[in-house]
Amino acid sequence: MSKKFKIVTIGGGSSYTPELVEGIIKRYDKIPVTELWLVDVEAGREKLETVGALAKRMVKKAGVPIEIHLSYDRREALKDADFVTIQLRVGQLAARALDERIPLKHGVIGQETNGAGGLFKALRTIPVILDICKEVEELCPDAWIINFTNPAGMVTEAALRYSNIKRFIGLCNIPIGMEMGIAKLLNVDYSRVRIDFAGLNHMVFGLEVYLDGVSVKEKVLEMIMDPANASFVKNIDAEEWAPEFLKGINVIPCSYHHYYYKTSEMLERALKDFESNETRAEVVQKIEESLFEKYRDETLDIKPPELEKRGGAYYSDAACRLISSIYNDTRDIQPLNTVNKGAISGLPYDGAVEVSCVITKDGPVPLTIGELPVPVRGLIQTIKSFEQTAIEAAVEGSREKAILALTINPLVANDKLAVAIVDEMLEAHKEYLPRFFN
Ligand code: G6P
Repeated sequence: MSKKFKIVTIGGGSSYTPELVEGIIKRYDKIPVTELWLVDVEAGREKLETVGALAKRMVKKAGVPIEIHLSYDRREALKDADFVTIQLRVGQLAARALDERIPLKHGVIGQETNGAGGLFKALRTIPVILDICKEVEELCPDAWIINFTNPAGMVTEAALRYSNIKRFIGLCNIPIGMEMGIAKLLNVDYSRVRIDFAGLNHMVFGLEVYLDGVSVKEKVLEMIMDPANASFVKNIDAEEWAPEFLKGINVIPCSYHHYYYKTSEMLERALKDFESNETRAEVVQKIEESLFEKYRDETLDIKPPELEKRGGAYYSDAACRLISSIYNDTRDIQPLNTVNKGAISGLPYDGAVEVSCVITKDGPVPLTIGELPVPVRGLIQTIKSFEQTAIEAAVEGSREKAILALTINPLVANDKLAVAIVDEMLEAHKEYLPRFFN
């Protein structure tokens, strides 16, 4: 009999789950998973049953001996897990639509992980993650938690500061998407490209880009001056960068930087989407409906290509290669959200950063970056202040700290506007904010 290898996925009914299942199947020789437990809340029963049935068909077609279990009992599922992946969305897409639409009503950008939207996603999510950490501590204390739940940086820092779990890693597809996108621009195999990443989640920069170990940063900067190459994710329609700006900044921005360096254009775009009821949450709701229709087809036994229309493409590759590297102690380099421990100077020692790390069986060891380049240091530090204040607001259920966080955030630089937005959003998300209302 093979040794038990149990992965538990919380938020298993997500439309992204077939990606994860495909990733595990592809790497079965390196990660011989024996049990995959997909867990969800009762309200997500229909989705979990649909995704679970597809997962079972995918495993059967691949001919790998992975048992798929569906569960609505998180405690039952977590017992003796080896890896726990978290991909939940408190309040589902309806809550995301409010995160995007309410700020726009006040004339500021509404986005899932940035500004007011990111703040409220953090306020709803962090207490749930801290509950999961307590359960992991009790039921599978040796497990690694790999979190994709947004805002992934804030969630990681909250878990590291406010739970007893140390084996907690935040994962995002943005860095891997940048590496893959740049490999495509250079027309080379992805394995030949390496980027040194540093910053925060959705606020990460490529400080250097290497092709076979030789810097190609200047060439890549030239290439991303072309608007067709300015974004690496499906969920952000990028605007053209000013070549002068890119030359000056001299590092590779991620797609989310468009919100900070091109705020007025991005706001204008978002307001049009608001008017036509096509904010990203609304678009994604439609994509999800058609994805689930496909998933229900009993002849489907692979991941449907339509899933690649979602912004989270490659996340399962990132997750499975991370699980494999920890399990096999491969000591390769991967960009992750983990505790800084002095890798990036000028950011808190015990806070979370997104940085290239060496992956060992004992977890990620961040590469030493030292000081951040002057042109990007200030923005990163400001966002870290926003994040830390937002995390405190989430843990304490503090309206004042939520207002302070939003006022610190560069997308809402006005105190009274922050008060108005926070109050409207607290009311709208009341159901998912027990720490603020009890
Ligand atoms: C990017 C981000 C993810 C985010 C996703 C949204 O890939 O890195 O953190 O969840 O986009 O994609 P969606 O298709 O839901 O808009």
